[in-house]
Amino acid sequence: MHGGPLVDRQERTVRYLRVSLTDRCNYRCTYCMPERGLEYGPRSEVLSLEEVVRLCEAFARWGVERVRLTGGEPTLRRGLVELVAQLSTIPTARGTLEVVMTTNGERLEALAPALWRAGLRGLTVSLDSLEPERFARITRRGTLRRVLAGVEAARRGGPVKLNTVALAGFNDDELAEITRWAWERDVVPRFIELMPMASGELFVPGELMAAAEIRDRVAQGLDLRLRPDDGAGVAGAGPATYWRAEGGRFRGRRLGTIAAMTEHFCERCNRLRVSATGRLHACLARDETGDLRAALRSSDPDRLEAVVRSALGTKRDGHGFNIDGSGGPSKAMVSIGG
Ligand code: 5AD
Ligand code: SF4
Repeated sequence: MHGGPLVDRQERTVRYLRVSLTDRCNYRCTYCMPERGLEYGPRSEVLSLEEVVRLCEAFARWGVERVRLTGGEPTLRRGLVELVAQLSTIPTARGTLEVVMTTNGERLEALAPALWRAGLRGLTVSLDSLEPERFARITRRGTLRRVLAGVEAARRGGPVKLNTVALAGFNDDELAEITRWAWERDVVPRFIELMPMASGELFVPGELMAAAEIRDRVAQGLDLRLRPDDGAGVAGAGPATYWRAEGGRFRGRRLGTIAAMTEHFCERCNRLRVSATGRLHACLARDETGDLRAALRSSDPDRLEAVVRSALGTKRDGHGFNIDGSGGPSKAMVSIGG
């Protein structure tokens, strides 16, 4: 094993690892998780926090600079704050590991200060509507008031982004308002095209909104133009593209779109994903995985690296998503964390 940077078949270097801490969630977003929930195996299948730390140490040695903690819902995992503190001290080529997290925000109001103190460098909160009744409908379990309070608490301590899945007939009339709400709070909104996960079971073709349409809605609603943002931070942004407002009171503000369906981004993909049970996913859109858990629990010190390098060989140059809902993986988003 040579221990160098993680470079895949298309010569993309992996800088970014997403680690799911649990595939449970206190929400059941309609596009992410079936109402009936999922079936779970024994707890022992879930990586321990000590295993997560060992894994991140190894990836940091191979050039990964940033880890995003996801779920399911990562705030459901006991020991989260201590984990953030530990991961944040792992040395990398440029300093220490940058630890960020994606959450539904339900528990954030109480947790945010401790997370920032532990060294967290960024938070992304999922938020699909600013109307309580709609929010309850899409999340099936969520309380808008708590999430808004969570964002307010979080923004006092560090950089916050929003993730909004844009859905025609659901929140298409709110996209400008969500953007305004975010910008007024120094939060960066990001709009995501609906993806057909779970074999298309949770996908409604008529709900898909194209990123270009999303940007038009926002621009019209707030009376501004959006220009591709070629400023700092764009290289390495991965699948998101960023846009900057021109004109009007929000001049200079940024917005992201994540267009898995209409603007292929695979060539910019610089990440690998680890599920809560230690499956290594080279691609969000495919079912092939490697078994990191077995490697972490084996006595062969080279096995982990072998699994990772072999997954790089399967990282494809295109996903198979189709706008009719076919071509996606059988896994649900909740089990891989987006
Ligand atoms: N399509 C697009 N985005 C999804 N997410 C969950 N399921 C889907 C889907 N089917 C989003 C969540 C969260 C992010 C991690 O992924 O809203 O913000
Ligand atoms: Fe939970 Fe996030 Fe999936 Fe909603 S999108 S069910 S909050 S993991």
